[in-house]
Amino acid sequence: MSTNNVDTGRRRFLVASTSVVAAVGAGFVAVPFLSSWMPSERAKNAGAPVEVDISKLEEGRLMIVEWQSKPVWIVKRSAKALSDLVTLDDKLRDPASENIDQQPEYAQNANRSIKPEIAVIVGICTHLGCSPTFRPDIAAVDLGADWLGGFFCPCHSSKFDLAGRVYQGVPAPTNLVVPPHKYLSDNVIVIGVDGEAA
Ligand code: FES
Repeated sequence: MSTNNVDTGRRRFLVASTSVVAAVGAGFVAVPFLSSWMPSERAKNAGAPVEVDISKLEEGRLMIVEWQSKPVWIVKRSAKALSDLVTLDDKLRDPASENIDQQPEYAQNANRSIKPEIAVIVGICTHLGCSPTFRPDIAAVDLGADWLGGFFCPCHSSKFDLAGRVYQGVPAPTNLVVPPHKYLSDNVIVIGVDGEAA
């Protein structure tokens, strides 16, 4: 399984190599053809869980996978990025993730994640559904000297931090969605099924 790291500012929706966790019926006999294990289009559309290998994801980088026909971002945050998050609270609309519709209970914490360093976020703006751009560049000229990295929606200029929390004074009304997910191992995440807090 391979991953695609996405460079700063690149909006194109790239899909990392994924596999779908499909239920295998009793009595199923494995045959030596990979295609036998591939999900049907129907299964994908129904939102089957997606298994993602993050072993090649480097600190500060983003990878994108597809789940339920939506882009899901996985970002590996540095210790500095995590410590910056706590400084942003008074600039955010819902810093404590009190809107419980936007994340599972196990992600209702300071980092909005199961593991502090790994963010898993649906990459669709909560305003009108554009896909924001990954902007980890601190103090970016167009985003202001106090920009600490995050996501910028070019459609109507909504801003989100690296936990997907929305800034005040922008059109997007809520934080980005954290999808249900869990870890199968240190480096394998399943998106689409619930996990638990680390
Ligand atoms: S769709 Fe993102 S700001 Fe409007």
